[in-house]
Amino acid sequence: MKAIILSGGKGTRLRPLTYSGAKQLVPVANKPILFYCIENIVQVGIKEIGIIISPETGQEIKDTVGDGSRWKVKIEYITQDMPGGLAHAIKTAREFLGGSSFVMYLGDNLIGTGIEKFVNDFNTNKPEALILLKEVDNPEQFGVAEVTEDKSVVRLIEKPKVPPSNLALVGIYIFSPKVHEAIEMIRPSERGELEITDAIQKLIETGSNVESFILDMWWLDTGKKDDMLTANAIVLDEWLTESIDASVDEESNILGRVSIAKGSEIINSKIRGPVVIGENTVVKDSFVGPYTSIGDNVTVVKSSVEHSVIMSGSELYDIERLEESLIGRKVKISQNSTRHKALRLLLGDDSVVEV
Ligand code: TTP
Repeated sequence: MKAIILSGGKGTRLRPLTYSGAKQLVPVANKPILFYCIENIVQVGIKEIGIIISPETGQEIKDTVGDGSRWKVKIEYITQDMPGGLAHAIKTAREFLGGSSFVMYLGDNLIGTGIEKFVNDFNTNKPEALILLKEVDNPEQFGVAEVTEDKSVVRLIEKPKVPPSNLALVGIYIFSPKVHEAIEMIRPSERGELEITDAIQKLIETGSNVESFILDMWWLDTGKKDDMLTANAIVLDEWLTESIDASVDEESNILGRVSIAKGSEIINSKIRGPVVIGENTVVKDSFVGPYTSIGDNVTVVKSSVEHSVIMSGSELYDIERLEESLIGRKVKISQNSTRHKALRLLLGDDSVVEV
């Protein structure tokens, strides 16, 4: 079995972060989302992974991920000229996939478990497709599946007004090579994309067995700011291990599960976990509260931060309370010390500021 991870796309919902970088490399608990996907695939023994990249962000992904040797697998890159849809991505990877069955993993999806059971089900029952589903409260916002009692899939519907179930399609699938024939039979949808739901529907209509597996752990599609913060909080809560390689002075106080990487300095500050802090970061005269991830080379001085993600190279000075914020790379936030407390901002396109 092989795997493809879809890491192209436009990432419009996560602008402005996605103007300067790939959505799949945005860190969750200081690790790119894409790495969680790779690790889940490696864990089931798959040795050949194809990463679908876009011409715009592909190089950054290649530079960050490498050739797979770090996970002892082979990673190849497949450029998709335009974001033509999930089925279009499979079509682009046709040569890489050859006659293999494969896992298709969306590079911005994060689930609270491995995929072993899912892969075992596919290998035992040998359907042409196995889709992962999750019960959600708002199925009208997702691709939804109608399934029988034995979990066979009868029908898939994109964002239904009247959902036939509350089972949403999670961005992880397993296909036999038969899916390529189904993709050849479909046409682009109204939004101009070759939809994976149409290809799966085609498999069902032509008599193939499509099964489902219901995920009982959490699932997050990290495409939006609030989802990113939730993902960060859950991963810190569930998976963070304590480790302090930094220098912490006598005046500082560290409580709960905290990880601080080498070269960082904590001076006269209070850190209340779960918190992860990267390398060569300075936290001085500050409070860092629960569910916060701070990247490498960050400076936090006389500030208070909680429930936030601050990426590498950013600086915070005299910020009284920063909460539920997602701060990109090399951002500088400081207090205006002039008498007229005007806001002075230099913000990129699609920035969001609440004052
Ligand atoms: P989406 O989140 O559906 O699309 P997007 O990345 O363009 O984001 P937005 O809606 O915010 O504009 O894509 C899911 C994943 O699949 C994501 O990791 C990008 C990837 N993808 C491709 O690789 N090729 C494609 O043609 C599409 C549509 C998505």
